[in-house]
Amino acid sequence: MKASAISHSNIALIKYWGRQEDGGRGMNLPLNDNVSMTKEGISGGSKLMSHTTVEFSRSYEMDSMVLEGRELTGRELERVRLVVDPLRTKAGVEEHFRIGSRNDFPTAAGLASSAAGFSALAIAASSALGLDLSREELSTWARLGSGSAVRSLHGGFVYWHKGSSHETSFAEKVCQGAPFPLNAVIAIVNEGRKGVSSDVGHEHAHTSPFNSIRTELSQKEALLVRDAILDNDLRTVGSIAERNSKYMHAVMMTSDLPLYYWQGETLKVIRSVHAMRDRGLEVYFTIDAGPNVHCLCRPEDALEVQKELEGGEHVLRTIIARPAEDPHTIDEHLF
Ligand code: DP6
Repeated sequence: MKASAISHSNIALIKYWGRQEDGGRGMNLPLNDNVSMTKEGISGGSKLMSHTTVEFSRSYEMDSMVLEGRELTGRELERVRLVVDPLRTKAGVEEHFRIGSRNDFPTAAGLASSAAGFSALAIAASSALGLDLSREELSTWARLGSGSAVRSLHGGFVYWHKGSSHETSFAEKVCQGAPFPLNAVIAIVNEGRKGVSSDVGHEHAHTSPFNSIRTELSQKEALLVRDAILDNDLRTVGSIAERNSKYMHAVMMTSDLPLYYWQGETLKVIRSVHAMRDRGLEVYFTIDAGPNVHCLCRPEDALEVQKELEGGEHVLRTIIARPAEDPHTIDEHLF
């Protein structure tokens, strides 16, 4: 009863921020449908990927997990059990688990490391348990560990239906990369851990006066972005994604736990994006719960965007990412 899986991280084009009230903290039901690109790093030595091994065995006296060489305890281990327990019950297995997981990119720096991790966990755990579940169903189980993990169960471009119950809140693939050639040039301005986790931030979204309008606009924009992806319309996808990211940060900054994920360097990257656009280069930005900036552009423009960003001394390094393949099991185990 041992299996391993790899899964990539994702970047939201329409954001998930704040949870449905009756969904409770445990269910991670978002307020609005949202859209993302599952991303594979193709430069900078980072594939933006998690590799996770899960084993169930009678020889283990308790559940345990090691992430990046660190033994997890408390809320962190609890989140892992939220995903594994229902699968273990489904399979009728009582053995404890041992899990090992490694990311090839900075953990908790706003590069959505937990999305890749929980997606790989759901795939590896279900495979170790001998369960044969659809990607859509697996996405609902990954969601219990981290909301955005739901979207990493597919490669390419992905649509998360907010739903109103566990079963109806799942991710569906919009398309693999080909119909919409897109790269994200990630400008890393800080690789440290973020101060307040998204898990905590979501709980305060409803206290911002802008939360309800953000939710309403995002619901409409999710559909517009899905159609624009299928129409290969970068201008529509990019301009909506950029706007939607700013709505989320407006909510973050104005909630009763004010969250300022942007740093001075973040704003400098935003200015570079505007300058490139003024010069006729089609590039747009989006920012998650951290200071780093994803710059969205056509693959043929990625090197020029990268060169421009790396020219600023506020940028530590960049990673170019493209739409990733589907996550899958692999034979190589971590222990
Ligand atoms: C800002 O609750 O999925 O990235 O579990 O901490 O990775 P973690 O985050 P999660 O919230 C992610 C919020 C976001 C926007 C998004 O990905 O939609």
